[in-house]
Amino acid sequence: MTQRITKAVIPAAGLGTRFLPATKAMPKEMLPVVDKPAIQYVVEEAVAAGLTDVLVVTGRNKNALENHFDRVAELEATLARKGDTVKLEKVNESTGLADMHYVRQGDPLGLGHAVSRARMHVGDEPFAVLLGDDLIDARDELLTKMLAEQVERDASIVALLEVDPDSIHLYGAAAVEATGDPDVVRVTGLVEKPAKEDAPSNYAVIGRYVLKPEVFGVLARTAPGKGGEIQLTDALMTMAEDVEGTGGVYGVVFRGRRYDTGDKLDYIKAVIQLAADRDDLGTDLKTWLAEYTSTFEAD
Ligand code: UTP
Repeated sequence: MTQRITKAVIPAAGLGTRFLPATKAMPKEMLPVVDKPAIQYVVEEAVAAGLTDVLVVTGRNKNALENHFDRVAELEATLARKGDTVKLEKVNESTGLADMHYVRQGDPLGLGHAVSRARMHVGDEPFAVLLGDDLIDARDELLTKMLAEQVERDASIVALLEVDPDSIHLYGAAAVEATGDPDVVRVTGLVEKPAKEDAPSNYAVIGRYVLKPEVFGVLARTAPGKGGEIQLTDALMTMAEDVEGTGGVYGVVFRGRRYDTGDKLDYIKAVIQLAADRDDLGTDLKTWLAEYTSTFEAD
């Protein structure tokens, strides 16, 4: 019988250098996207897909992350005293979301290294990895499909997004073969941040994975790659070749809305897009935006 997948791992120990100085004393996963830290959207996505146990891999600024998912008695008491139930609900939104756990990465030796820090907690079960600075629109399904494919194919699953060939150098690119399902491909190879002419396809690996526990053994044998870091992509490449009987890798093609909050321009776009869709902000924001952008021609 197949075991239900319950665990999510969120690596949030990167240095976030593209966002300095905002990330000097705060992880980039805590940057607010409208009025919620990016990581809260990601935890909500995991919970919506049925994952109940969330392990966050933290770095030097772990306190902000841990505090965000914890109770804050003084603030709760003040709001309760004032009878401000709306704000009280906002405070409590992140508290009871999931069973939260934390592990330190120590040195930020790469995404692969961060994932390997989850080994003790995850044990011998498939698990999901969600990057804390990559947001998938809650209205578009991705993780649920990936979890189902993992069970169905008994393989590791990555999320793929078709990108402009001019942007493929920013991602891991996948070499793929078709399957009977137009939304699923078999991954035959992966190249980390290839030049446009070396990219095997325009399929970029984005920050959602459902991995078999064999990845831990593979990561332990993976030498530092690009940037001297232990790359998850390198371990997935070994698994895609299935040389060690690790089950292979499949890609679920995502055609929905994704926001990269680790990149400055994309972060700004994410805030505007998500705010424009909100009932409480959308109308006023769109009116102002239209007025504001109409001044651009004149400049
Ligand atoms: P990035 O490469 O986007 O993160 O890693 P970074 O290194 O923090 O970013 P910049 O380039 O300096 O701005 C992707 C994800 O992996 C995590 C990051 O927190 C991010 O969610 N990560 C990366 C770790 O947890 N540990 C690492 O050693 C590296």
